[in-house]
Amino acid sequence: MSREGKMDRRRFFRNAGTGLAVAALVPEAAPARRDDKVSNRANIYIDYASPGHEIPRLIYGQFIEQLGMCIERGLWTANGINPDYFLGGIRPEVLEAVNSINPACIRWPGGCFADSYLWKDGIGPMQNRPIRPNRAWNTWGKAVGPDVTNQFGTDEFCQFCEQVRAEPMITANAGSAPPDDAAAWIEYCNRGTEAPWGQERARNGREKPYKVKYWFVGNEMWNSFEFGHCTAEEYAKRFVEYAKIMRKADPDVKLIACGIGQPTNDWNRAVLTGAGQDMDYLSIHAYYPGKLFAAIGPARLKQHLSYYSPLEGVPVFEEHLDRSWEAIEKWGPAGREIRITFDEWNLWYVFWDVIRANYNLRDGLFVAAMLNGLQRRADRIPIANIAQMINCIGIIFVDEKGVFLTPSAWVFKMYTENAGQIYVSAKTDCDRIIGKEADIPVLNVSSSRDRAGKILNLFVVNQHRTEDISTEIKLAGFNPETQAHVHELSHPDPLRFNNLRKPEAVVPSMNSVRLALKDTDSAKSFRYSFPPHSVTVMVLKQA
Ligand code: AHR
Repeated sequence: MSREGKMDRRRFFRNAGTGLAVAALVPEAAPARRDDKVSNRANIYIDYASPGHEIPRLIYGQFIEQLGMCIERGLWTANGINPDYFLGGIRPEVLEAVNSINPACIRWPGGCFADSYLWKDGIGPMQNRPIRPNRAWNTWGKAVGPDVTNQFGTDEFCQFCEQVRAEPMITANAGSAPPDDAAAWIEYCNRGTEAPWGQERARNGREKPYKVKYWFVGNEMWNSFEFGHCTAEEYAKRFVEYAKIMRKADPDVKLIACGIGQPTNDWNRAVLTGAGQDMDYLSIHAYYPGKLFAAIGPARLKQHLSYYSPLEGVPVFEEHLDRSWEAIEKWGPAGREIRITFDEWNLWYVFWDVIRANYNLRDGLFVAAMLNGLQRRADRIPIANIAQMINCIGIIFVDEKGVFLTPSAWVFKMYTENAGQIYVSAKTDCDRIIGKEADIPVLNVSSSRDRAGKILNLFVVNQHRTEDISTEIKLAGFNPETQAHVHELSHPDPLRFNNLRKPEAVVPSMNSVRLALKDTDSAKSFRYSFPPHSVTVMVLKQA
């Protein structure tokens, strides 16, 4: 299980955009001609009574990794001994920012880093924890792969999750550590003091087990950059071996196998046929636009990207997820429920964004359209984690001088605050904008309700750059109060960023809006105009 040869930079780029089948590193030509001359009218038809699937909260997940400024100099301030900071290392304003977006789950410690991480280094008294080189990422320099201070270890991660009420998810090292290590880690997190590692946790000040339910068996093993990289057949065997030992430590854990969002599904077929009996989830990752970030530098990238191109990532991702689901249906063993975890997804423009990125309003629209698609697929993909939470391709920006939410984080918050529990079918009749890689609907719509049947949440992304879309919304089986709460994220400039000088340049508004309700064809209806390049979450109450 030694690390494969020297890292192949071109191959890493290709893999890092994965899921996207980035075939070649071809520089983009001039932006594609695009036809966005579309009708500025649309219809949405909601059938409240139609039975929909559950939308588990875990689709609103986050991910943190020892990469760039995510943990070191982001979430965690070095020398974690400040009495005013949570656990000695998390600044109050950082904790508040994370709390404010309500992550349902957080995945850690990677990512590629996980397959090099030695978890026993990160427990016990801080002063005894070793500082190690970041074996996974330091080939790119210390800004990308900062030394591992081991201050933010297992207890800190689990207690941080408890503090922000997020379910912890851990990626076990299946690349450079034996299965016994993964089992001991489970024992440390989940067992009482009858077990030696449970005793060790108690000695470290925490008697009550953390009960970490979700465990990844390695990360992206198909990736030549990964520690322990291997073929799909080898990985399937390895998964079975790890699973047996990990489940002995705690039979209640859910185990997640590395999959890949690849149109041919070759890897997924081999993993599902070789290890399907032992797995609970297949992990899929995707970043967009994979080929651009390899081919051109940051300055030129801005000129090459049109407003619309990142939004085309949504149907591209959905296609990969749907193909991966087909793999499960085709090759998953009969009688075993295997679902997808989409535990890394985001826009990743240039490689160096792993140090620290910032995202604009259009990128926020991408997040909203993705969350709509995830709500629609939540029966097949009950877990999803945006990558990542802080700084490193991160939706929360943290600096010594301040902290702010990017529009992507504001969108995430708008969705977690109004999530609903049951999917409600929303049929949309609108024009499509013709793209280079994919076409996108002018309005991307999803809808949910509460379990009690008293609330209807409508999530609408107007993806058009310049047009208001006047929309007739018909509600069958739901009679709303005339006052609705409308949360809206918009700004005259779709490419507007928040920054330290203007951290709230793009923030959502919340208004109480009076609906002009009409009775049409045994349904209630009203007209609403969605502003250009905006995200709207409308909350309606049953009258
Ligand atoms: O999120 C950044 C990296 O992208 C992760 O470490 C890896 O899993 C993926 O390739």
